[in-house]
Amino acid sequence: MRAKILLLLAATLVMAARASAVTITRGPIIENPDAVTSMITIAWWTDTAGDSTVDYGVNSAALLFSNTVPQAGSCEIGAAGTCHIVTLSGLLPGTRYYYRLKVGGVIVQNTGSSGPYFTTLKDPTDTTDLFFTIIGDWGQASGHEQSVSNLQDAADPQMIVTVGDNAYQNGAQSDWDNNALAYYVNPMKRVTFFPTLGNHDLNSVGASSWASSVEIKMFARRRRRALHRARRQRAHQRHPTCLARQRPGNHHPQVEVRLPAPDAVLVRQRDRVDRQRLERACPVGTALRVLRRRHRLRRARPHL
Ligand SMILES: [Fe+2]
Repeated sequence: MRAKILLLLAATLVMAARASAVTITRGPIIENPDAVTSMITIAWWTDTAGDSTVDYGVNSAALLFSNTVPQAGSCEIGAAGTCHIVTLSGLLPGTRYYYRLKVGGVIVQNTGSSGPYFTTLKDPTDTTDLFFTIIGDWGQASGHEQSVSNLQDAADPQMIVTVGDNAYQNGAQSDWDNNALAYYVNPMKRVTFFPTLGNHDLNSVGASSWASSVEIKMFARRRRRALHRARRQRAHQRHPTCLARQRPGNHHPQVEVRLPAPDAVLVRQRDRVDRQRLERACPVGTALRVLRRRHRLRRARPHL
C-alpha cells in the first residue's frame, strides 16, 4: 500500500514538473505600434510550444478578463508554437492593467500588486502630463546600459521611445537578445516600447529590406501585417477591372480595357506586362476574362 502511495506521489511530481516546464526565453514585450488608446499587444517566446493566454484586469488580485490565441503554426522568430503574440482590445485609455501570461494553461508570468502591468495610452483630450523617456545608441551590452535601464525601471515611464541604433552591431536577432533585450527585461515587461530604426539595426538585412528586419518583426507586427494588407489592396484596386468588381452591387461589371497603341511590338510587350500585373492583382478568372475580351476587341480592330 505504502509502495503504491509512493509511486502515485512520484508520478504526480513528474507530471507537475512536466506541466510547469515552460520557460520564457524572450520578453514579455509591451507593444502598441499603431498608437491606439484601446489596444495593447503582449509578445513573448517560450522554450515549449503551446497556445497563448493573457489574463488581465485593473485589479491585480482579480484579473477579470482573458484572451487566448491558438498555438502559432509558424513563427517569424523561433520555432512553431513558441512565439506568443496576444493583442488585447476594448481597453480603457490611460489605464493600468495587471496581466498574467500562460502557455498551454501553464502560468509562465504571474502578477501581483507590483506588477507586471501595462498602461494604455491616454485619450488625446487628456491634458495631464505624459512622462516618457528617450534613449539612443543603447544596446551595446555594457554596465552603463544596465544602469540606464535600472533608472528607467525605477522611474516607471509610460513609454520608452528610441531614436535608433538599438541593437549593436548589426540589429541581428542575437544582437537584440544579448545586447538589448537582456538589459531591459524589467522595463519592457511593463512599459510600452516605441523603437525607431537606426542604421545599425538594418546592417544584417540591408536598408531596402527594413520591413524584414528583426526590429520590425519583433516590435511592429500588427503594423507590418497591415502594411502588407494595404499593399495588396492597393495593387488590387489599381486595375480598373478589379475596381469595377469592388463596386457595391456590381456583380457583372462592364470590363473597361484600355487598348494599347497601334504598334504590334508595343502591344505584345504590354500584353505580357499586363498579364503579369493582372495575375498578381486580380483573381485568375478575372485576368483571363480581361485577356479574352482584349483578344476579341483586337480581332474586331485588326490594326491593333
Ligand atoms: Fe549611432
